[in-house]
Amino acid sequence: MNVLVTGHKGYIGAHLVPLLIENGHTVTGCDINLYESTGWEETVAPQTEWIRDVRNLSVEDLRGHDAVMHLAALSNDPMGDVDAELTYQINLEGSVKLAEMAKEAGVSRFLFASSCSIYGKGAKLDMDESDPVNPLTAYAKSKIESEKRISALADDNFSPTFLRNATAYGHSPMLRIDLVVNNLLACAVSQGNIAIKSDGSPWRPLIHCKDIARAFVALGEASRDKVHNLIVNVGGNKENFQVKDVADEVQKLLPEAEIVYTGEVGEDPRNYKVNFDLLNFVLPDFQLEYTLQKGMQELHQKLTEHQFSEQDFAGDQFVRLRTLKKRLELIQ
Ligand SMILES: NC(=O)c1ccc[n+]([C@@H]2O[C@H](COP(=O)([O-])OP(=O)(O)OC[C@H]3O[C@@H](n4cnc5c(N)ncnc54)[C@H](O)[C@@H]3O)[C@@H](O)[C@H]2O)c1
Repeated sequence: MNVLVTGHKGYIGAHLVPLLIENGHTVTGCDINLYESTGWEETVAPQTEWIRDVRNLSVEDLRGHDAVMHLAALSNDPMGDVDAELTYQINLEGSVKLAEMAKEAGVSRFLFASSCSIYGKGAKLDMDESDPVNPLTAYAKSKIESEKRISALADDNFSPTFLRNATAYGHSPMLRIDLVVNNLLACAVSQGNIAIKSDGSPWRPLIHCKDIARAFVALGEASRDKVHNLIVNVGGNKENFQVKDVADEVQKLLPEAEIVYTGEVGEDPRNYKVNFDLLNFVLPDFQLEYTLQKGMQELHQKLTEHQFSEQDFAGDQFVRLRTLKKRLELIQ
């Protein structure tokens, strides 16, 4: 397949590009490079690379592709809170326009990076794809609105698929430490304590960033009838954790690190535990490569090898929001 990956220079994209190439696909990457020079390790370049804003692509650019894997976005809740309007422009309007152009260009498959964060404060602790959503932030609202509007474009020649990804963690050449697992582990490695900003009780479904990339590949390669206009939670039933469980896992790796509740954010209203049966049903052969424990061991080893320091923890390099604030002119 000829695949256009947007946001290929991000945390998940850095895994997706090599996986697609290994599976024999030809990849064009499109990324505005917001996090240029924040890389941790070498990345694999796609065969063709466009350093461009996805909002400026044309129908002609999309012609000749078999699939679009759309990851480019302002990629978490705090970023959405900095500028909700910009989040809607990029994550919602940008995504819908891209899907409309893909359809017009004859691209038959469109895989959208949605998020389990749309469940917000889950009505029950076993949310599946048919349950009512409760998006609490501009970021989460941008994702659910995109799902609805892109879904309406589905027809015999255009098959969107919506991956409601769990919260990612783990090693990537484009490391982020603004995600809960990575944050707690990086904190312990660099500062010697495990600082929890909430009361530790919220549930989160977790998934290794490479497993999200693997799910994109598997759903992109699945037959159309299985994934046409499908919304699917991406994660594993056994991979739902309370934040305090994550802290305990960090402590197993770094027994000297003390768990500290900073109380910074008070009670976290986002609390969702997610059911992933549909993913197993649609892709019975797809298994997650990582458990939380395995992914944390790998990242711990990487952080140690890189001599991850207090300066690294406090700096901009691995925290999207801090870098974004300095680069806003690129996307405004
Ligand atoms: N990381 C997670 O926990 C998680 C969970 C669920 C869903 N997702 C979704 O998966 C996708 C990828 O997440 P990530 O963690 O790799 O994020 P990331 O921030 O590391 O990467 C996003 C990439 O998109 C690019 N980008 C942003 N706006 C752009 C624009 N207008 N034009 C072109 N490129 C642009 C950035 O430069 C960056 O390289 C996002 O859509 C995110 O919302 C992520």
